Amino acid sequence: MIVTIDGPAGSGKSTVARLLAQQLGVRFLDTGAMYRAVALAVLKSDASETDEQAVATVARSVELRFQDDAIHLNSQDVSAEIRTPEVTAISSVVASNPTVRECLVHQQRCIGEQGSLVTEGRDQGSIVFPGAKFKFFVTASVDARARRRHRELVAKGSSLTLETVKTQLRQRDSRDENRELAPMKPAADAVVIDTSDLSIGQVVDELRRTIERGSETTAT
Ligand code: DC
Repeated sequence: MIVTIDGPAGSGKSTVARLLAQQLGVRFLDTGAMYRAVALAVLKSDASETDEQAVATVARSVELRFQDDAIHLNSQDVSAEIRTPEVTAISSVVASNPTVRECLVHQQRCIGEQGSLVTEGRDQGSIVFPGAKFKFFVTASVDARARRRHRELVAKGSSLTLETVKTQLRQRDSRDENRELAPMKPAADAVVIDTSDLSIGQVVDELRRTIERGSETTAT
């Protein structure tokens, strides 16, 4: 069984997807971490993130692997490094590169072939797993998302203002929604959930109820 959870940054989809996977006893795939890891590899190389050919070369040469909850880039655990503001800033540019998407979509489908999965990203229901049994698009107002992201960043010691975080979110949304390839959007058959006024627990419960209802319907 494949469950896809797509949505914009700060919608709570990563936390929700991780918890849901735990509750269902299946694997969790954070596809944003894969795009971030390639963005980190681009930063570490001399390539500019806007140089299509150079970024394609980096994407073809890197080896990505998940081990437990950690993501490894060329055998090195980069789980913390991929969350820096520098990586975040270029990740949506790198994610619009066709070769990057081709390489990562292929890897994601290979992971999907290995068994049940809750996978989260921007295009999991629309492009990567169009046949997924359950598809969700988790979203929230830009104000709610900026507040959540700001809280997380402040807890990590960042001094960015709420306004700056909101501006950066808008820029990333705009790049993710307007790119030519696999733009962020709900799959036609996705259940859309607005989490602006919901707790993480409430969202997970709602997703589980939908899955349980759907599983009963298919079983009868
Ligand atoms: O979810 P995130 O913030 O970790 O994602 C990092 C970037 O990768 C984000 O700008 C969008 C991009 N991304 C994508 O294009 N497709 C995915 N399936 C997942 C992430």
